[in-house]
Amino acid sequence: MLKEEKLRKEGIKAIGVELEVTNTAHIAALSAWIGSTYGRLDILVNNAGIWAEKGEYEGDSFRDTFEVNTFAPYHITQTLLPLLLKSDASRLVNQSSALGSIGFMLSNELAQRIATPAYAASKAALNMLTAYWAQRSQGTNLKVSAVHPGLVKTQMGGDKAELTAEVGAKTAVRLATVPEDGPTGGFY
Ligand SMILES: NC(=O)c1ccc[n+]([C@@H]2O[C@H](COP(=O)([O-])OP(=O)(O)OC[C@H]3O[C@@H](n4cnc5c(N)ncnc54)[C@H](OP(=O)(O)O)[C@@H]3O)[C@@H](O)[C@H]2O)c1
Repeated sequence: MLKEEKLRKEGIKAIGVELEVTNTAHIAALSAWIGSTYGRLDILVNNAGIWAEKGEYEGDSFRDTFEVNTFAPYHITQTLLPLLLKSDASRLVNQSSALGSIGFMLSNELAQRIATPAYAASKAALNMLTAYWAQRSQGTNLKVSAVHPGLVKTQMGGDKAELTAEVGAKTAVRLATVPEDGPTGGFY
């Protein structure tokens, strides 16, 4: 069953749009569709991510990780930025990771045990893009945040992770809905 059909069955108004995040034609089509359908974008959550170094991976894991975790959110955000700036109260949330934090990497035993170079560096770069967009959107209605969801039971997090997906999503939802006087440019 398609993801949007599953959401609709739960009573949620959802529309699915094809988006391979590394495909620039998909990104352009998404932008055109949002523009012609709604004329603006209120919330963008860059959530898609891979941890290619974990387990078996065929291909260039370092390059592919950056393609999905860093370059894709960059291209998607830059393309959708004009629509975000048309909203009265837009929010951009980048789903990052504590593994992208220099302080965490140097002080936390778990981080030191599980971190891998491409994944950690791709999220550190995403954090810097977050700061860049927050700085560039000062004086507009856009607020920008990076979030770490915790260790979440998903395909990436695995069965032993401590949080359900519902709990893991809470930080992103909170930052996607901060009020007008809420923060911008932070990592949560
Ligand atoms: N789970 C954790 O403990 C944890 C901790 C810290 C940060 N994060 C971050 O949270 C985010 C979500 O991770 P998750 O745990 O939900 O991982 P996941 O279970 O592996 O799911 C990854 C999601 O990203 C999508 N995706 C991957 N590559 C894509 C591409 N090229 N184009 C379009 N979609 C793509 C997948 O879509 P399909 O289902 O269609 O393949 C899937 O929905 C990621 O950015 C991850 O780095 C997770």
